[in-house]
Amino acid sequence: MVENIHPIFDQILSRADKEEQLGQKSVVVWLTGLSGSGKSTIAQALERTLHENGFVTKLLDGDNIRVGLSNNLTFSVEDRSENIRRIAEAAKLFLDGGIICLCSFVSPTREIRQMAREIIGEADFLEVYVNAPLEVCEQRDVKGLYKKAREGKIKQFTGIDSPFEASENPFLELRTDEKDLAACRDELYEALLERIEIES
Ligand code: ADX
Repeated sequence: MVENIHPIFDQILSRADKEEQLGQKSVVVWLTGLSGSGKSTIAQALERTLHENGFVTKLLDGDNIRVGLSNNLTFSVEDRSENIRRIAEAAKLFLDGGIICLCSFVSPTREIRQMAREIIGEADFLEVYVNAPLEVCEQRDVKGLYKKAREGKIKQFTGIDSPFEASENPFLELRTDEKDLAACRDELYEALLERIEIES
């Protein structure tokens, strides 16, 4: 399939060139968790803080990607896997461009997250487990999707009739039912700083 493809990776400017120009080190922050756990809210708040502090970022978010890059995919196991493969490849492009990429996706299984980790590269993949118990997420039901899932109007809904496997050994775990948004954002920002700052 790739026999007639001739990549030119060695002719384009390097990640180091980009990082130097931007004055930062790039990384992928991968937020995983149930729908309604607070991933996107934290990612948005974090992006704002990073931006205010002079960092260049790109936020990739489940609902946005699923109306664009992944608009032909369902929530079957295979399609979720393809969804995450595409996102991980996209995140890697930002990483190579020196940009700090924040990814907010349910990414429900260890296998799926492992695939993302392998595509992006172990050293650049920071998994953040945004953890709130299912009961809490269901109680919040910000988008009304849990109600629909319980009524059988949405199939293969994560946590209801599709699995979610807890993150193992994440870079950071944030319990959004125990800490408020600002505390979660600050904790993540602080943890991130040593990975993204260029020593002067
Ligand atoms: S993933 O499993 O493939 O990583 P992704 O993060 O892209 O999922 O999309 C999840 C978002 O799609 C949820 O936040 C929710 O708003 C919406 N959604 C719609 N149907 C489902 C479903 N069956 N399971 C999970 N999320 C769903």
